[in-house]
Order: sequence, then C-alpha cells, then structure tokens
Amino acid sequence: MIKAKTLGDARAQAQSNSELNWWIFMRISGLILMFLVLGHVYMTFVQVSESDATYDAVVSKLANPAWKFYDWLILVLALLHGMNGARYSIEDYIRSRPNRFWVKGVFYSVVAVIMALGTVGLFSIH
Ligand code: HEM
Repeated sequence: MIKAKTLGDARAQAQSNSELNWWIFMRISGLILMFLVLGHVYMTFVQVSESDATYDAVVSKLANPAWKFYDWLILVLALLHGMNGARYSIEDYIRSRPNRFWVKGVFYSVVAVIMALGTVGLFSIH
C-alpha cells in the first residue's frame, strides 16, 4: 500500500501502475463523493420532508436521466472507493496468502452483485 501525501511520493513508492492509479482514484473519488453525497442527503432530507420521499416521488425523479446518472455515479464511486479502502485493510491484516485470496474473492463478488443490482434497478425505472 502506498503511504504518501503527494503525487511525487506516491509515484516513487508505487510498485505498479495500477497501485498508483488506485491511489489517485481514492483522492479524486473521495472529493467528488463528498459533494455528491452531501447533495443527495440534502435533497432527500432537507429540501423535502421524510414523508415526501414516497415511491411515486422517487420514481418520477428518477425518470430524468440526469438524476439516474447522479445516483449511478454515487453508487459506482462509493462502491469502488469503499472496496479499495477495504482491500487496503485486507492486505494489511490478513497475512496468509490463501486466506487473503478467498476473502478478497468473496468481497469483490459481493461488491459486483451490489453494483449490478443497483445499476439494473436504477436503469429499469422509466
Ligand atoms: C441518511 C440519508 C440518506 C437518505 C434519506 C437517502 C435516501 C435515498 C433515496 C430516497 C433514494 C432513491 C433515489 C433518490 O431519491 O435519489 C436513494 C438512492 C441512493 N442513495 Fe441514498 N440516502 C441517504 C444517504 C446515502 C449515502 C450516505 C449514500 C452513499 C454513501 C447513498 C447512496 C445512494 C445510492 C447509490 C442510491 C442509488 C441506488 C440505486 O438505485 O442503485 N445514500 N437514497
């Protein structure tokens, strides 16, 4: 795992291109997610009251492709950001290679299923 504060340090430490790309992705996705999620919570909690978040209201909002894309971006970025964060922890704490392999395999599969269900659910709304 890269432990760096600047891009230059991260480049020097990176064992591979993909490790460096994940390091960059974590910084960018974290920043974007802050705005997307704050906006999401604001719109679903503050702007409307809880009782307004009905099935019909959500479906009519998600009929707009721009909102579909907004929600989908949170779905994908949050899942990948969380998945890679958990991968760092798995690599730190699970020292045995075969165990690491199985834990990662199960974990990535769960993430893939959630991403597929979330995407199909979102884009099946018309
Ligand atoms: C506690 C506050 C929250 C409330 C009340 C809430 C409520 C909702 C509602 C009503 C929807 C349906 C669609 C829409 O209105 O956009 C939704 C979708 C979604 N929310 Fe939240 N949300 C909350 C927090 C979060 C957080 C913190 C995240 C991410 C870290 C998140 C991620 C998502 C995603 C990814 C979808 C789209 C899921 C899909 O259809 O595939 N939400 N949320």
